[in-house]
Amino acid sequence: MSTETKYPNLFKPIRIGSVVAKNRINFEPTAISCSNADGSVSELDIAVYSEIAKGGYSMINIGGCTPDSKTGRVTVTGLIIDEDNMIPAMARLAKSIQKYGALAIPQIQHPGRQCPMPKGSYYSTNDQVVKLPWSAGHEIVFANAEEKGKEIKALTTAQILDQVELWSLAAWRCQAAGFDAVCLHAAHGYLMSAFLSPYLNRRIDRFGGNFENRMRFPLAVIKEIKNKCGNDFPVIVRFSANEWVPEGIDVEESKRISVALEEGGADALDLSQCIQETPGAGFDPMQYQEGWTLYSAEAVKPLVKIPVIISHALRTPEFCEKIIADGKADMIGMCRGALADPYWPTKVLLGKENKIRKCISCLTGCWQESLMAKKDIACAINPVMGDLDFYKLDGTKASRSMKIAIVGGGPAGMEAARWAVLRGHKPTIFEKSNELGGAILGCCLVPDKDKMKWYADWLRYEIKDLGVEVLMEHVPNVEELKKFEVVLNATGAVSYIPDVNGLTERITSMEAAFSCPKATCEFYPKGSGRKGVKLGEKVIVWGDHYGAADLVAFLGAAGKDVTVVTDRKEFGSSVEVIHMYVLRKRMAQGDAEALHSKPYKYPVKVFESSTLYDIGEKEVKIIDKNLNITTIEADDIVTCYTRSNTELADTFAKVEAAGIPVVTVGDAKSPRNLHAAVKEGASFILYLDPDNCVKNPNGALLDDLPIDVKKQLGF
Ligand SMILES: Cc1cc2nc3c(=O)[nH]c(=O)nc-3n(C[C@H](O)[C@H](O)[C@H](O)COP(=O)(O)O)c2cc1C
Ligand code: SF4
Repeated sequence: MSTETKYPNLFKPIRIGSVVAKNRINFEPTAISCSNADGSVSELDIAVYSEIAKGGYSMINIGGCTPDSKTGRVTVTGLIIDEDNMIPAMARLAKSIQKYGALAIPQIQHPGRQCPMPKGSYYSTNDQVVKLPWSAGHEIVFANAEEKGKEIKALTTAQILDQVELWSLAAWRCQAAGFDAVCLHAAHGYLMSAFLSPYLNRRIDRFGGNFENRMRFPLAVIKEIKNKCGNDFPVIVRFSANEWVPEGIDVEESKRISVALEEGGADALDLSQCIQETPGAGFDPMQYQEGWTLYSAEAVKPLVKIPVIISHALRTPEFCEKIIADGKADMIGMCRGALADPYWPTKVLLGKENKIRKCISCLTGCWQESLMAKKDIACAINPVMGDLDFYKLDGTKASRSMKIAIVGGGPAGMEAARWAVLRGHKPTIFEKSNELGGAILGCCLVPDKDKMKWYADWLRYEIKDLGVEVLMEHVPNVEELKKFEVVLNATGAVSYIPDVNGLTERITSMEAAFSCPKATCEFYPKGSGRKGVKLGEKVIVWGDHYGAADLVAFLGAAGKDVTVVTDRKEFGSSVEVIHMYVLRKRMAQGDAEALHSKPYKYPVKVFESSTLYDIGEKEVKIIDKNLNITTIEADDIVTCYTRSNTELADTFAKVEAAGIPVVTVGDAKSPRNLHAAVKEGASFILYLDPDNCVKNPNGALLDDLPIDVKKQLGF
């Protein structure tokens, strides 16, 4: 295979201090939170980081390694490097990465005020208590600290000097374990960043106040690392070039910081954005477009000789190539891009751009349902990420090809079909509409959700490329399904109208409310067949979850006067928090940092812990948990309550009665999100084999049976 590339700049080597990275694609520091409970390197750590190295990223930054677990572990199962007994396993991790030609670089990080463990006391530059704007349910630093027993402690001078020693010792251990360099986490409001930031650092001693004093802690750490490890051991510093808060670091300040860090011995600068008070800029939900952070690299790069790395929402090879070609930065960095597709660099090198599964910035898998939920790393669209079962499966085919009927051509169905072919089975997708995509397709109407289309396109391309049989506009009957050995119910969810008094005929379904003005489009070349409705100006969005949040964004941007009525304590509490942070700003006719959408014509009103009580001709009564009734005017009411689709329940029951197992996945099991759909679709196939295609008494397919049990059961 030729390795001549359209992207010569991306594949040029680059020197970082004494070491050379083989290309310009950096895996940004990512705390995957997969370590053993004692903080040592786990089998899963090695599987995740080494796969990303195998994919061709030239530097693998291992996120969230604490130098001091007694005062700050970065995640509940983050890596700990504060004792020498961590060195042997760290050495195994380093080797597993270097084996694939990549540089292995732990990021040393003390979480400071944003510390999940140990609970109870938080180190910071000062005792400023912060109420974070994410959502009531997801605070990290509590305003009511005393009541919650969580205290923010300003470091004493002696403790700061201790930290210098602990960080440098951690770096020394990394060097002893055979790592190529270290990265210092001085971004995002964590401990070192709290020294750099004029907004966070309120000290009045020699570690706070003026610029020189604020630089003292990071520079002392760099100096002490060089003392312990030698000048040849490279130190990269990652800091937020813009904190997006008044008095915080801005791009002018970041220029001064960059120069001071270079003079202080840093070997490369990795520019990030935000502190926890401004999470939009830090976690780039879907609303943030590729390249929005480039301005910071352009500002800093002319002032320093050391390499400058830029990241955030970078996804497409052409765009990344141009960044390097135009000299805007020396390296491009990716975190989520690599979680969604660890093989991005190899695919780019080989010109297989349409095979790249581009991260859609949804933050559900990698953030909401992993780090925020205290679980291993995951990715909504890459079922392999963070799952040892999938890593181990690698290349294994089923003992015999099976005929599988997949009913429903949404993400769960398509992902199952993809894995079925890879494992040597013969899947047939039955899709009721005239296009594959399911619930993803509605997203094209929601402002800033266009990245969902990347994933829909990728799946459809793969389904075509793998030669999956697809029967479009076809609902299978019992006789048809009986010709298969196993049936997958991936028919998704549908909206419904909960009990309510009055004129229920005034209620529109969510599906109809997402009405598209186009007769045909790329998704529906023959037309969707969905008859949209024209809603009046005053609309009640009744319900919650992704459907309701998307509908608010759609209607708000369309100039409607929207009122949300949700029975939850907090609107959007099951929607990814950073997306809700941006949406809430927009609901209040503003926008999140660095975004400039057209303000909604009306602010969105929200009734929480409430539901509809009675629907009149024009008026609607809303009742809250204390039985207070409010009457508002509404032209239309849209229900966003959903439940699993049971349209084919009888068909499936008859197929099961005929001895053919039917397995239900994704929203057809219970309405959740894309992550659940993709994971369950893929997992259904993971061990599916004619040898174990029988359900246990709990209704679950038997899988991965020990050889003696297979024999005993007569398989
Ligand atoms: C799951 C997850 C873990 C992260 N862990 C770290 C970390 O340990 N250190 C760090 O500097 N940034 C961390 N980040 C931020 C990313 O490195 C990156 O700046 C951000 O995700 C935006 O870039 P991307 O669009 O390439 O993902 C993390 C992000 C995610 C989603
Ligand atoms: S979960 Fe979503 S944001 Fe995270 S890596 Fe996967 S696609 Fe990207």
